Amino acid sequence: MIEGFDPAFDDATWTLDWLREPVAQVPVGVYEDGYRVEREFIEDVAIFGRSYRLDSPLDVRGLFAPDGTLWMSDTPQERMMMYNNAGQTRGHVLVGGAGLGLYPQYCREMASLTVVERSPVVIRLVAPLLKAVLDERGIPLRFLVGDVETFLAQAGPGGYDTIFLDTWSRLDAALLPAINRLRELAGRHLAPGGRVLLWGYRWMVRLFEEACATLLMMPPDERDAVLADREQTAARSAAVLLPVIEMYRGQSVQRWELDAAVAKCRAWIMETQA
Ligand SMILES: C[S@@+](CC[C@H](N)C(=O)[O-])C[C@H]1O[C@@H](n2cnc3c(N)ncnc32)[C@H](O)[C@@H]1O
Repeated sequence: MIEGFDPAFDDATWTLDWLREPVAQVPVGVYEDGYRVEREFIEDVAIFGRSYRLDSPLDVRGLFAPDGTLWMSDTPQERMMMYNNAGQTRGHVLVGGAGLGLYPQYCREMASLTVVERSPVVIRLVAPLLKAVLDERGIPLRFLVGDVETFLAQAGPGGYDTIFLDTWSRLDAALLPAINRLRELAGRHLAPGGRVLLWGYRWMVRLFEEACATLLMMPPDERDAVLADREQTAARSAAVLLPVIEMYRGQSVQRWELDAAVAKCRAWIMETQA
């Protein structure tokens, strides 16, 4: 694992400080090819399953694809996680995925921003908004259209102080091997002392740990069947647990041995690359 990554950093740590930071939002409207942005005012929110009532209604924007599916939104949970990542951000920054442009707005110690975004629609929506915000703060902004993995694999070393990657659409432990590969590629572009931040990484590792603990507490001869059953509904998630079954094939794990076994699984999932 690269030096500039702290696997213990948890961007799902609860905070409401983001509420004090105003953000510029993508304008409501219908855009090219039928993309549209809608707004909703919400007071009762759920952040990682925890209910919270805001003091006043919050304007939340959602970007909908032409087929009507919600693509991205700036919900309180999203804002909280972006705010936490921004708090760890310094200097010259590279971001993979612009999204709705939340994260850079929370970054208070940023010297410049390079965004790699593969969707021209997102760029057209978000680039003007970010440019206006960052111009006011005197922070240079560069937008590149393309796939961030290709960029990280092919571009010369960038000397970034912070690289924040957030191109995956859900928090799923099965994505970790591919995210680890991105992390290692990103490591090549760090300045000395620089840092890679990965949206939801600790959360996804925790999901994996919980799944491993459940699996390992079962009698060894029942584990394959449970996983095979689960494979029908969540094949990709189950696939990442198969190596855990192999690691402990035929071995019972006692309750007092569980923490050490889960720690071994955690070390494995954090190193494995797809
Ligand atoms: C969840 S959003 C990012 C949210 C953003 N961090 C924010 O602060 O609002 C994910 C973004 O990554 C982009 N994206 C997805 N896969 C990508 C890839 N392989 N390369 C570059 N951008 C990608 C999507 O188009 C989308 O804009």
